[in-house]
Amino acid sequence: MKNLMDSQGAKLPPHVLIFPVPIQGHVKSMLNLAEMLCLSGLDITFMVSDFSHSRLLKHTTVVSRFKQYPGFCFQSITDGLPDDHPRTGEQVLDILPSTKNITAPLFKQMMIEKNLFASETRRPITCIIADGVLTFAADLAEEKGIPLIYFRTISACSFWAYFCIPELIEAGEISFEGIGMDQIVKSVPGMEGFLRFRDLPSFCRVKDINDPKLQMAESVTRQTTRAQAAIFNTFEDLERPILSHIRKHITNLFTIGPNHSHLKLRLTETKADNSVLSGSFWAEDRNCLDWLNAQPPKSVIYVSFGSITVVTREQILEFWHGLVNGGQRFLWVMRPDTILGEDWKNQTPLELEEGTKARDYMVEWAPQEEVLNHEAVGGFLTHSGWNSTLESIVAGVPMICWPYFGDQTIHSRFVSDVWKIGLDMKDTCDRKIIERAVRELMEERKDEFLGRSENMAKLAREAVSEGGSSYRNLDALIDYIKSMII
Ligand code: UDX
Repeated sequence: MKNLMDSQGAKLPPHVLIFPVPIQGHVKSMLNLAEMLCLSGLDITFMVSDFSHSRLLKHTTVVSRFKQYPGFCFQSITDGLPDDHPRTGEQVLDILPSTKNITAPLFKQMMIEKNLFASETRRPITCIIADGVLTFAADLAEEKGIPLIYFRTISACSFWAYFCIPELIEAGEISFEGIGMDQIVKSVPGMEGFLRFRDLPSFCRVKDINDPKLQMAESVTRQTTRAQAAIFNTFEDLERPILSHIRKHITNLFTIGPNHSHLKLRLTETKADNSVLSGSFWAEDRNCLDWLNAQPPKSVIYVSFGSITVVTREQILEFWHGLVNGGQRFLWVMRPDTILGEDWKNQTPLELEEGTKARDYMVEWAPQEEVLNHEAVGGFLTHSGWNSTLESIVAGVPMICWPYFGDQTIHSRFVSDVWKIGLDMKDTCDRKIIERAVRELMEERKDEFLGRSENMAKLAREAVSEGGSSYRNLDALIDYIKSMII
């Protein structure tokens, strides 16, 4: 690649194309990465879907925030789904075939027409950082001869379990026939002692090993090795043993997380404004922060199931009664599309609308990072999405895990049995179990959980501080990207 110069004769920086899957958790995490790269002077083209771009424009200041970086620009393209197609529940997975079949050819065309997004002041794309589930990126990068780095928004532990699907199939440890949910699986190296069939990524719960979701999970994960490198939003002290297994297959592996906290630190180093980068697809209700200000320290459970989870009206009621009977205050995020069914407003149980007045607060979307870091919050009832898990770890908040699908089932096992910073309630939704978990986390074993969570938070902070593993790895990643144009 040539050392292109600007009009003053200075060498133009590398130009990175960042392409997330247009799902909340993926876009937010990759926006954090984009801003970190901007701070290092790299030029960035950030691909968003038309749908997520309109959400970001409507609900956030992201677009104006990035205006301060002259080398940054958004490009938008269809995700291939109609606007009214639900992007929740299992239907969110429809984005994968639609991006492959509809977005990919349009994107290729766009790249040609826009001369690899080059301009007088920008090189043509010198490197692609694509979401790890965008399989078309590998074909495109190979065809165009552009180096590719895959970014995984999931944990190393869930990635590794996905990676071992062929071994699990070979050992007969996948498929329901003859396998008990609590049977220990032995074909995921590093997890032999504690991983049950129940904890495997939910796409492993199939009757037939030819199940398309299982096959998709396997092929998407295995093709990560086609890229020149991979980035994981995690840190070494959290997942070191598992990372060492992955490194046998992916040598250029950069752990740079937790991204949200790493970005905050890098912003603090370089300029005054280190406010949270909100990449929310919904309007954040900041009034809940005023409500939290009026609550005693560590007295509130924050309840949120992320951007994709959908539940039935019956499940909502079990949670409601379990939380109320647990006797704690709670702040609950109920997205407008959380409850399964067409007419969610009419389905909202009366109990929730009336509330218990002073002891609970409901919002449609919260400023989650700020909520978790509020001193009134003492626990998090979560669906164990990877971003939520990392945000809770950084804030030192113990978790009650109710994983919904995909990678989340494995995160909750690690939270409860490996890191021991919370409880795992997977596959149950019963008010008595919820009440018990609330009492255990917030009263009976409170000090034990808080102590371990605070230790883990300290390790996370160290990782992203100068000299820490994620800090060094981000610098190494930037050098690696720069080396592509020398
Ligand atoms: C999904 C998967 O569940 C997750 O495991 C995968 O790694 C990324 O894609 P999602 O289900 O939305 O994401 O969960 P999560 O990863 O936790 O991301 C949700 C994000 O939305 C978090 O960054 C969280 O801070 C934010 N959020 C959530 C808010 O800002 N406000 C809210 O009220 C709820």
